[in-house]
Amino acid sequence: MAKRPDPDPCRPQDLGLFEIVSRDGAARIGKFHTNHGILTTPMLLPVVNPNLRTIEPREMWERYGVDALITNSYVIWKHEKLRSPALEKGIHELLDFPGIVVTDSGTFQSYVYGDVEVGVEEIVSFQREIGVDIGTMLDVFGRPDMGREELESAVSETSQRAVPSLEEAGEQLLLNGPIQGGLHHDLRAEAGGLMGLAESEHRGFAVHPIGGIVPLMEKQRYRELFGIILASRSTIPRNRPIHMFGCGHPLLFPLSIALGVDLFDSAAYALFARDGRLLTPEGTVKLEGLREWPTNSSALFGKTPEQVREMDRDERTVLLSHHNLEVTQAELARCREAVRNGTIWELAEKRSHSSPRLREAFLWVIDELEELEENEAGNALLDLMASTNPVRGGGEPISEDIDSRPHILHMMALISLRWRLPGSWWDGSSGPPDRVVVLEGKPPPWRNTCLHTAVEALIEVPKSVVVISTPVGVIPFSFEDVSPFCHIDGPEAIWLDSTDDEQLSEDLETLGLGGIPYVISKPGEIPENPLEGAMDVRLWMDRCSVVDKLSVLCAIKPSELCEMTENMESRRSKTDRIINVSVGDEHLLSPRLTDGGISLAIGGARKLHSINPEPPLRFDSSEAIPEADHPGMPRVLLSEDAIPFVGKGRNVMHGYIEGADPHIIPGQPCIVVSSSGELVAHGVALSTALEMSLFRKGIAVKIRDGALKED
Ligand code: GUN
Repeated sequence: MAKRPDPDPCRPQDLGLFEIVSRDGAARIGKFHTNHGILTTPMLLPVVNPNLRTIEPREMWERYGVDALITNSYVIWKHEKLRSPALEKGIHELLDFPGIVVTDSGTFQSYVYGDVEVGVEEIVSFQREIGVDIGTMLDVFGRPDMGREELESAVSETSQRAVPSLEEAGEQLLLNGPIQGGLHHDLRAEAGGLMGLAESEHRGFAVHPIGGIVPLMEKQRYRELFGIILASRSTIPRNRPIHMFGCGHPLLFPLSIALGVDLFDSAAYALFARDGRLLTPEGTVKLEGLREWPTNSSALFGKTPEQVREMDRDERTVLLSHHNLEVTQAELARCREAVRNGTIWELAEKRSHSSPRLREAFLWVIDELEELEENEAGNALLDLMASTNPVRGGGEPISEDIDSRPHILHMMALISLRWRLPGSWWDGSSGPPDRVVVLEGKPPPWRNTCLHTAVEALIEVPKSVVVISTPVGVIPFSFEDVSPFCHIDGPEAIWLDSTDDEQLSEDLETLGLGGIPYVISKPGEIPENPLEGAMDVRLWMDRCSVVDKLSVLCAIKPSELCEMTENMESRRSKTDRIINVSVGDEHLLSPRLTDGGISLAIGGARKLHSINPEPPLRFDSSEAIPEADHPGMPRVLLSEDAIPFVGKGRNVMHGYIEGADPHIIPGQPCIVVSSSGELVAHGVALSTALEMSLFRKGIAVKIRDGALKED
């Protein structure tokens, strides 16, 4: 096999920067820039014990494509036979590893064995001297069983050591700033804030590991573990990777990643192997008693459990370590792919059924996600939901937890906040509705199965609000082609069940339709001849759907949209779906056929911009942003020097943004404006406003069209 080449160092100006290249809510595919290559996250740093290398680091690099590993600088510092060669040749040569070397500082040893005799600055300078890429300061381990006072002191002592450690690290050594605080969510959030702000003249911390959690994982106290992740994440700066110190069981990867974890590290692959245990994505299995392999790997291929049991102990440990590392890597690859295709939550949901303790934790998380209380975990989950693109292509498999998926909760929350009754009805009348018609009993595509019933109902009583009952709740008919709703995938029976009366009343209340008489309609056969007046009704419904989607997804006031669409025309596809919406000669937008979302055109961007031509507030402004259900088209305020590029259609890069509306949704349209309020471009946001204020690398807005192109 061809030798894997050594990595290229990052550009000097990128050292320590983290960028997001793909995301699914809080989960992100990141690139972290170091002097020994660019690390793709989420990933696991295999722990290498410098005294006992079960798998050679070189083999990790060559065979498993491991880009980064973690070892312990304290162990190297303490053992003369490691310390001198490390100082002489550097850590990369000592380990024979060309990739990124991360080191820990001895804190964990102090937890296991009592005090360590190394100084705070001393261990950082040692890591710098041996050429580590990402070192760790000497934090104070906060055990979960410690009292509040002791934990407060662990947080405060760790934060007092932060700046001296960063100063000692200098310019080239990147540092981990661990977050302690035990089980106390407020202390975790406080630690995240303090460590996030700490800075030397060169830089702040590059990565924030969540510490003190090993005892929880050992006892499978997963509910508390995920609570801690959320509380810590509520204040850790978004532009820094989050690392779960000592977590390496594949079972925990999907939910941790879905909640925003970027890095893992663990010796589990080797420790479990020594114990004769195999890792699988669903849990751990003992070699003893196995007749066949529950999961396969190239390490086990061609061998039977019996043959492996008969091996010499050391040989068996090495073999099982290889298997465990392979399984770990494969599950991480699967998670990364799930982030890329928007299914990380679904994977976490699936994995939650692998262990009762994990299930308990998952159910706790979704309860919190539905409640969104005003506390640290609630804040982190609100941010997670708000950063999740509510519209997505692909199937939406039914499950008992389907209505707690963050993108569905987000979509439902947006509809309930921003959807409004039509300003006027198809027959030109106005005023409150006479009734609600609930379409029930038919699967999507509803434009094929239910449209005739909707039209019929509107002809019969023009002031009717037509809604569809779906397994995730009631939606206005305008959203009939919006995914996830129209792609819910399940057995026929899910469409046949009648909606529970109480649930229906609750859903109608949420839509602002409480108190209006409703009828349930089960669509029947499609009539052969179109009904009289059907065309007028259809045109009015088309207009409603444009108004409803723009008000819900882009936060534009429905009254403004009614005016804008007064004379709209639409072009239809052969399958009778709207493909272009124009006013006069101007193409405004196209509903996306794949997911029912909106593709804005430059004409539409100009019109929506003209409704709200002021630029958004700058990030450093202290002015309060007034709260509104429809604050207008989300805007990004671009730096002066980027205007010529973005105006011609280039993407907006992080680092060139001076302000952004807080209601920007990743995956949804936004416009880019100058400080004088001029429209520069329009595109799709890839980041939240908070991220735009913090990140310095990567694409923030994918531009669809520039507004300053010369013809
Ligand atoms: N390894 C596992 N937990 C911890 C921790 O809390 N701090 C450090 N530095 N290393 C760890």
